[in-house]
Amino acid sequence: MVDHVLVTGGAGYIGSHACKALARAGYVPVTFDNLSTGWRDAVRFGPLEEGDLMDRARLDQVFARWKPVAVMHFAALSLVGDAMRDPATYWRQNVTGALNLIEAALAAECRDFVFSSTCATYGDQDGVLLDEDSVQRPLNAYGKSKLAIEQMLGDFGASHGLNSVIFRYFNVAGADLEAEIGEFHRPETHLIPLILDAIDGRRPALTVFGTDYPTRDGTCVRDYVHVSDLIDAHVAGLGWLREGRGSRVFCLGTGQGFTVREVIEQAKLVTGRDVPVTYGPRRAGDAVSLVCGSERAARELGWKPARSNLAAMIEDAWRWHQGPGYSA
Ligand code: UFG
Repeated sequence: MVDHVLVTGGAGYIGSHACKALARAGYVPVTFDNLSTGWRDAVRFGPLEEGDLMDRARLDQVFARWKPVAVMHFAALSLVGDAMRDPATYWRQNVTGALNLIEAALAAECRDFVFSSTCATYGDQDGVLLDEDSVQRPLNAYGKSKLAIEQMLGDFGASHGLNSVIFRYFNVAGADLEAEIGEFHRPETHLIPLILDAIDGRRPALTVFGTDYPTRDGTCVRDYVHVSDLIDAHVAGLGWLREGRGSRVFCLGTGQGFTVREVIEQAKLVTGRDVPVTYGPRRAGDAVSLVCGSERAARELGWKPARSNLAAMIEDAWRWHQGPGYSA
């Protein structure tokens, strides 16, 4: 019998890449998504169950129907700006949604849980190279809601034997190598797709948020990871849980950070086109610098990022951006 994995947020950017990789690895990915920020069109590798994490009865139905062996939980509200304006919605949707999901999984005796967490749980750390043991001081309700879920998973591990692999992502970029799926957010807030939109005229210019940060060129530093590498780690994390190796946290970064200006320069090189740029004030809730190593993931999961260099990520994002799947 083929094993099913419940993928919340499987219609979104990272979740859809996870579904493709799971299908390749021999699982049936069952997407659970309310399509509020995801796309029906991105669900190509297994069935779609439309539903909302706030609806516990619907979750119970889906667990009963597919009997998944594990959950990969991607679905979340993830816009820092919105989280600053409307923290209540972030706390309600992200934290209550995760609680419903965990309880539904346990009720269905599904105890292996892969969780998509974030470097936004760290907040500002004076530019140090982060790792799994770095202190977490999130700056916004988005990061705080993800940290609360991490802690919740720990509690359910101790009390109910839930096994979780928590991945703290750094800045995910790039697209499927076959450009079948890619990044398509509406509204788009992420740096690389916005640069590409400015390059091909979909928007007039990219606004750089803040040029007075204490970094080498005054703009924020981020650690960019290719979505396909990130998902390789998830498949390995699922294997880890299926082998009964217990709960673990892994950071997924490259150890190398790039400033906003450096990303813009690299995009010019990759595309051979100019990037129209304007300069604006800092964006509320942004950390100065977020960079992490991935020694634990390398050592324990055998994770070897293959395409997480900036040029390759922009190249893959640009290929997807120009293809038929990307329409604005
Ligand atoms: N930036 C600009 N102009 C823009 C957009 C972004 O200058 O128009 C800058 C940001 O200020 C930041 C960098 O580009 O310095 C990257 O910004 P992104 O919005 O692409 O990503 P974040 O670093 O804000 O990522 C955070 C968390 C992720 C989370 C994401 C969700 O680190 O875990 O927000 O939106 F998924």
